[in-house]
Amino acid sequence: MCGIVGYTGPQSAATPLIEGLRRLEYRGYDSAGIALGTSNKLFVEKRAGKLANLESALGQVPEVHSGIGHTRWATHGGPTDRNAHPHLDNEQKLAVIHNGIIENYSELKAELQSAGHTFHSETDTESVAHLLSDLRKKHGGDLTAAMREAVKRLRGSFTLLAVHADTPDLIVGVRRNSPLVVGLGDGENFMASDVAAFIEYTKRAVELGQDEIVTITPNSISITDLSGKEITPREYQITWDAAAAQKGGFTHFMLKEIFEQPKAVADTLIGRLIKEVIALDELKLSEAELKGLQKIVVIACGTAFHAGLVAKYAIEKWAKIPVEVELASEFRYRDPLIDKNTLVIAISQSGETMDTLMALRHAKEHGAKVLAVCNTNSSTIPRESDAVIYTHAGPEIAVASTKALLTQIVATYLIGLYLGQVRGELASAEVKDIYNQMLELPAKLEQILETVEPLRELTRKFADQNTVLFLGRHVGFPIALEGALKLKELAYIHAEGFAGGELKHGPIALIEAGTPVIAIVPNTHEHGLDEKMLSNIQEVKARGANVIAIASEGIEILGATHVIRIPSTSQLLQPVLAAVPLQVFAYEMAVARGTDVDQPRNLAKSVTVE
Ligand code: F6R
Repeated sequence: MCGIVGYTGPQSAATPLIEGLRRLEYRGYDSAGIALGTSNKLFVEKRAGKLANLESALGQVPEVHSGIGHTRWATHGGPTDRNAHPHLDNEQKLAVIHNGIIENYSELKAELQSAGHTFHSETDTESVAHLLSDLRKKHGGDLTAAMREAVKRLRGSFTLLAVHADTPDLIVGVRRNSPLVVGLGDGENFMASDVAAFIEYTKRAVELGQDEIVTITPNSISITDLSGKEITPREYQITWDAAAAQKGGFTHFMLKEIFEQPKAVADTLIGRLIKEVIALDELKLSEAELKGLQKIVVIACGTAFHAGLVAKYAIEKWAKIPVEVELASEFRYRDPLIDKNTLVIAISQSGETMDTLMALRHAKEHGAKVLAVCNTNSSTIPRESDAVIYTHAGPEIAVASTKALLTQIVATYLIGLYLGQVRGELASAEVKDIYNQMLELPAKLEQILETVEPLRELTRKFADQNTVLFLGRHVGFPIALEGALKLKELAYIHAEGFAGGELKHGPIALIEAGTPVIAIVPNTHEHGLDEKMLSNIQEVKARGANVIAIASEGIEILGATHVIRIPSTSQLLQPVLAAVPLQVFAYEMAVARGTDVDQPRNLAKSVTVE
């Protein structure tokens, strides 16, 4: 939530700042602003609404070489010009931008107001600008020392960047429970919430730990902890290229990311079976610990939670360990029955979701081991976990998650296979067979995407509907939930996902003439699953529903008005294929209804507040 960027170097700073903000706009788009460090005074412009509003307000920008920029997802104070960042001190010489929440801001504000500071916004952030201003004077103009002392006074989660007109080419940053990375250029340096902001200029990045203060000038970087002790920068190479963070000819990032799914799944799977054993990225857990596991708890939010629900079926089947799947935002308020024999799997695309991070810490406090499934290298969640498997989806820019879901499902399946193998529940030949079936998924995804046009055309016919229901059984149930989530967030349509068997216990009352119902038909006859789902189709059809069935090739479907075919695979792997038509349906509905596909209202990509 909120995107932050800082630049110092030879370029006219407005250019990398605005470009960086464009790449970070997915993190929030309620307002945008920049502060440029000219000597003796700052140039500041900020506007409510999207970055485009700021750009048209900017006009002639001074040719200066450092500055900070912000794109906001509002928490404290509505999305107005006044509440937009940067926020300034009384002298208007010090500017601050912030991602997160300063929990003790009202106490600080009262203290600063009685010391003569005048506030101009309703934000929690402004108190930091005034506090830093006083502390900088106390430290003889040393902004880094001021930040170090300020941070000790702050509670909550934050990434902060500050610049002062008297030292215009120097930018100070800090992070606590919120992301910040440094980009190392040639005679120029960057800071940002995400490497996407500066990937066009450099692939060298430095990760920052909790409560580390970083100061950059065009030719230097210095990192210290809260006591002032120097910390050696931990440099890494960014593997994404700039093109990955651009639309590449697609009308929307979401559509591009839907079409990237075959590659994303292939990249996540490739090289994971080494000498007949599944390979994870970092596993600081011994075989004895894995054999002794008595329970798995998956924690995640939103789409990642749906990936976790799918994972439960596979892990229980292959590794024979009970799996619970919990919303991270609820898990942390419970006294969970977990201990050192519990493995907690934290699934997160961004690796920064605050609810998941807090649930992870809660699990660790209770003695559990944590394995992260994550798409973002060196982000907080994998850093704080005992083990990690990275999904190789590449940058996901559209706010609505697509390729992250598919790669999360296959990554959790690899974990299931690995645990099944280590615990002696699966023979190497079985693992190899399932892994090989998984390797066929990218080609099957290509097939779905090559034949997606009729589905797009069909979807447009439903554009004026206000309710859409999704039905599934077994692994199709979480996919029904995901289909409904995608439609809600993108097309602002009331949508719900149900387990087929639950229909008769209440939801069937929602069906009236013409209600669209999307039914995911299972791939298996085991437990009579397919027949039961076909009965559900008949039940809703009898009450007037307009049924679209998502079904594997070769299965006869009676009662559906439309049938969307997907290639055949095993039942457990079907979600990877069945999710795609639902993503396309939601995408096309959004386009037809004229909503903002990549940046739906009220949402942000990386949810770094609780
Ligand atoms: C929905 C969506 C969200 C995220 C959720 C978790 O399309 O994108 O529901 O899945 O906010 O985000 P991560 O995976 O970054 O923890």
